[in-house]
Amino acid sequence: MLLDATDTLGAAAGAVLDLPAAARAQVATRPARVADMLQVQPLIAGFAEKGLMLPKTLEFLNRNFREFVVAVDGHGTVLGCGAVRVYTAQLAEVASLAVSEDAHGLGVGRRIVQQLEVEAEKLGIGTLFALTLQDGFFHRLGYRTVQKEMFPLKVWADCRSCSKLHACDEIAVVKEVM
Ligand SMILES: CC(C)(COP(=O)(O)OP(=O)(O)OC[C@H]1O[C@@H](n2cnc3c(N)ncnc32)[C@H](O)[C@@H]1OP(=O)(O)O)[C@@H](O)C(=O)NCCC(=O)NCCS
Repeated sequence: MLLDATDTLGAAAGAVLDLPAAARAQVATRPARVADMLQVQPLIAGFAEKGLMLPKTLEFLNRNFREFVVAVDGHGTVLGCGAVRVYTAQLAEVASLAVSEDAHGLGVGRRIVQQLEVEAEKLGIGTLFALTLQDGFFHRLGYRTVQKEMFPLKVWADCRSCSKLHACDEIAVVKEVM
């Protein structure tokens, strides 16, 4: 079953305990506010420097904050983010998915993707895809691997400006969410 608009991490949180138990209990996912982008930008930048995702400027993020959901702890610190990028009335991408390394393995990424699926459903979008190096993570959430060529719009939107265009190592995964 899909989650409500605000979802709180409960007993399902995993065993990697960098966050104190009380703080983990207060982790929640919600649609992003524009002010969250100040924390989202460096979170994405850290992984972009490692070649794991594309960098985003604060200007881009402020313009597109409505695409985002965030996971925040009890102090309002952003632990993770992700976006639903719409391509057609039926198809959207799970984009800019990132969880702070301190919070890896606690179920935060799963909660963000589930929240993105809720947001896609609200928009009437039935299919979500991602281009990712983390196909194992997406498989755990019910996505299946498909040929990248299924998504020509994506290729034109982002990939043509990517340095890896002709040596792309990302894997396409897809899930029907409604
Ligand atoms: C990929 C990422 C978002 C996962 O977030 P996370 O909060 O650590 O993941 P979760 O704790 O929610 O994991 C959910 C499940 O996926 C599994 N999982 C997590 N990362 C995985 C990986 N890289 N490979 C295989 N399985 C993985 C977990 O073990 C867990 O399994 P379970 O169903 O047995 O509980 C996070 O590692 C990250 O931000 N990576 C760097 C940025 C990046 O690569 N983003 C993806 C761009 S598309």
